[in-house]
Amino acid sequence: MKRDTRMTACRSLRLAALATLLWACGSDEAGSGDGPEPALTPATDEDPDPAVLEVSLEARPAFKRYADAPETAVWTYNGSVPGPLIEGRVGERLRVHFTNSLPEETTIHWHGLRLPAVMDGTLATQSPVPPGGTFEYEFELRDAGLFWFHPHIRSDVQVEKGLHGIIRVTGSDEPEADEQRILVLDDVRVLADGSLPTYLDDESKMLGRQGNILLVNGEALPTFRWRSGVLQRLRIVNVANGRFFNLALPGYSWRVIGTDGGTMPQPYDTDHLLIAPGERYDVVVIASGAPGDVVTLMNDPYERGHDTGAEAPLPLAQFRVSDEPSVSGRALPDAFGEIERLPGGSSDEQLVLDEGLRDGTLEFTINGETYPSVPPIRVPVGAVRRLEVRNESEMDHPFHLHGTFFQVLSTDGIAAPMEALANKDTVIVPQKTTMQLVARFDEPGRWMYHCHIPEHAEGGMMGEADVGDAP
Ligand code: C2O
Ligand code: CU
Repeated sequence: MKRDTRMTACRSLRLAALATLLWACGSDEAGSGDGPEPALTPATDEDPDPAVLEVSLEARPAFKRYADAPETAVWTYNGSVPGPLIEGRVGERLRVHFTNSLPEETTIHWHGLRLPAVMDGTLATQSPVPPGGTFEYEFELRDAGLFWFHPHIRSDVQVEKGLHGIIRVTGSDEPEADEQRILVLDDVRVLADGSLPTYLDDESKMLGRQGNILLVNGEALPTFRWRSGVLQRLRIVNVANGRFFNLALPGYSWRVIGTDGGTMPQPYDTDHLLIAPGERYDVVVIASGAPGDVVTLMNDPYERGHDTGAEAPLPLAQFRVSDEPSVSGRALPDAFGEIERLPGGSSDEQLVLDEGLRDGTLEFTINGETYPSVPPIRVPVGAVRRLEVRNESEMDHPFHLHGTFFQVLSTDGIAAPMEALANKDTVIVPQKTTMQLVARFDEPGRWMYHCHIPEHAEGGMMGEADVGDAP
């Protein structure tokens, strides 16, 4: 398939505003794709009080079919992969009755949410929930954004087996769109008999498990319908263990309006949206084309180290123009509310990420140590800290911090551009690159930071920030 030529052709067609022809560019790679649109299952609010969102979550085994493979034994929240979609509003209290019906212990971590440390679901803050056990999580939803939840024990195995779900928190000042969708990106490695590998081979240990089936909302190559001429908002999260998605929608560029912790003051355009495990992006595009036209969402190769960039471009999903009436006066947004810029300056802490063999075992280290031997960072409550994260290894690591957002100040000494100002909780630190981040630690407790490739975190690349009263 001469994809590059087609993409170039598509771009020039767009410049010539030949929308109909443009859409034909994608349609020859269309699969059958006529099934129902894969939507996430909404969680039920069990409390009539509008200020309280009360949800039951049960972690339990189930079966699922991935593409044409035989049934796969998976682990789920409430029976589905991805798990239920929890929909809340800023200021609401979320109460979760959690039951563990798995054969092993687990916890739920609320990725990206600012909450009291005892609710964070890590082993630094709670004891594991044993098989048959229960736990009540309860906290206030403080920030608008797209967040997700997953276990924080043996996360390399538990997340891969299917334990992940989405929380969308809506604020008073939401970006407007005519249609909005959540796309949960994932991949799974399914063996010929339908099973997931129970062993961790060397390559998966090095790169994080990478799958042979790419998934959007739990399905291989699904079709979404969208209306032409209207503003489409896509909320995208990468829940894969190892794979970085490098998204292209041939003929379009993405307008990026937000990321992990909500909207960005200065949206920007990009042809490729690179999204590492754990990250989220909020993008808008104006769909075009005639009813029945199809454009294919592609995952283009990206070199994140160790020759990962050699893969062919892979189709992820299709967008098919529906014949519903399309009237919208909405234009692409170009500004949102300010974010307080945290102060720059010299670094307070240095974290060196590296990989290497110790006694023949592959280890992922921070400052030469593996968790739990990595010395904790000590921070007084309310303090601002600048972290220099230096990646000495030969692959990119998505660096994730719990309990607060951070901002990127610089990369290899070059100040981050204005459009990079954002509330992040996960950021790609490329191989052989140094980034300076800054965060304010408002919430006391022990907060994990780690690489969001769970094989790396479990392999040692994890530490703690101890936020407490000043001595
Ligand atoms: Cu999404 Cu510590 O993790
Ligand atoms: Cu890593």
